Amino acid sequence: MKDLIQKLINEAENEIKSSLTLASLEELRIKYLGRKGSFTNIMQNLKSVRSEEKPAIGQALNAAKNELEQHLTTKQKTLEEEVLKQQLSDDSFDTTRPGTHYETGHIHPLSQVQKEVEEIFSQMGFAIQDGPEIESEYYNFEALNVPKDHPARDMQDTFFLADKSHDHHGRMVLRTQTSPVQIRTMEKFGAPLRVIVPGRVFRYEATDASHDSTFYQVEGLLIDKNISLANLKGVMTEFLTRLFKKETKVRFRPGYFPFVEPGIELDMWCLLCSGMGCRVCKHTGWMEFMGAGMVHANVLKAGGIDPEVYQGWAFGFGLTRLVMMKYGIDDIRLLMGGDLRFLEQFS
Ligand code: DAH
Repeated sequence: MKDLIQKLINEAENEIKSSLTLASLEELRIKYLGRKGSFTNIMQNLKSVRSEEKPAIGQALNAAKNELEQHLTTKQKTLEEEVLKQQLSDDSFDTTRPGTHYETGHIHPLSQVQKEVEEIFSQMGFAIQDGPEIESEYYNFEALNVPKDHPARDMQDTFFLADKSHDHHGRMVLRTQTSPVQIRTMEKFGAPLRVIVPGRVFRYEATDASHDSTFYQVEGLLIDKNISLANLKGVMTEFLTRLFKKETKVRFRPGYFPFVEPGIELDMWCLLCSGMGCRVCKHTGWMEFMGAGMVHANVLKAGGIDPEVYQGWAFGFGLTRLVMMKYGIDDIRLLMGGDLRFLEQFS
């Protein structure tokens, strides 16, 4: 009997050694240790063994079984390692392939730049305010020194709401500018005042590469005693230098806006050539940036502030245009168009 066991072990060991795949190894496990396997068979035949020999043979059988199990496990590990090695060195398994890409979304470029603008002005002590996008004619025009029937109303093509039932504040409009929030913040906080107002505005305009019916502006308002346009020059030079992370200069030109007197247009150094003159700035060295001026006495009065005591300046620039300048975008429609091929470049 013992010889039989030994023979079986030798045979099994040889077969395990020469087994080349995990599948064939599994077959061997079944062949020797399975329910109908060779060792199970011998166990069953133990009945026919003489009883005084039974314990010794039983022990030998168990020891043989354990030995076999160990061989099988060792061989299994070796084969598994080999499979892994093979996979790693196999040309068809490319370890440099990028993993699964998960879509996470990101902040829209307009919001990204808006946040940067807010951070810079906050550091300079400006509060951030907002106001309604559906506005009354009074706040959008009258209070800003643009009386009814004044030709300056034609400067901004306006969407009027169909609902005509309104009080002394006139009809309702989609605000054409963020300037009405000047009046609202003056009414709310009085003087002195230092705010910026980023926000969405609307114009009844035909769309093309540089016009959209919806775009974004940033309004600025500073009111205090002894304020002059020199302060505006300093604030804007600092703002633009920080935003574009390179030295920037600004210049004033006369400009007309009903809510300021005097009114100016502010130009900044061309982003590309820093004043040298290039194709982008049409060889002037400057780019138009925004309208501004000293707040008109009528506007201060409309906001409840005494123009004999306080002065201030205001400005308004196009946030949408700023984003276009910053990233060299040549069609405004891309920004509100929702085309992912465009937006995904800003993640
Ligand atoms: N609201 C003007 C516009 O939309 C821009 C502007 C010009 C705002 C001069 C101002 C300002 O506050 O002082 O065209």
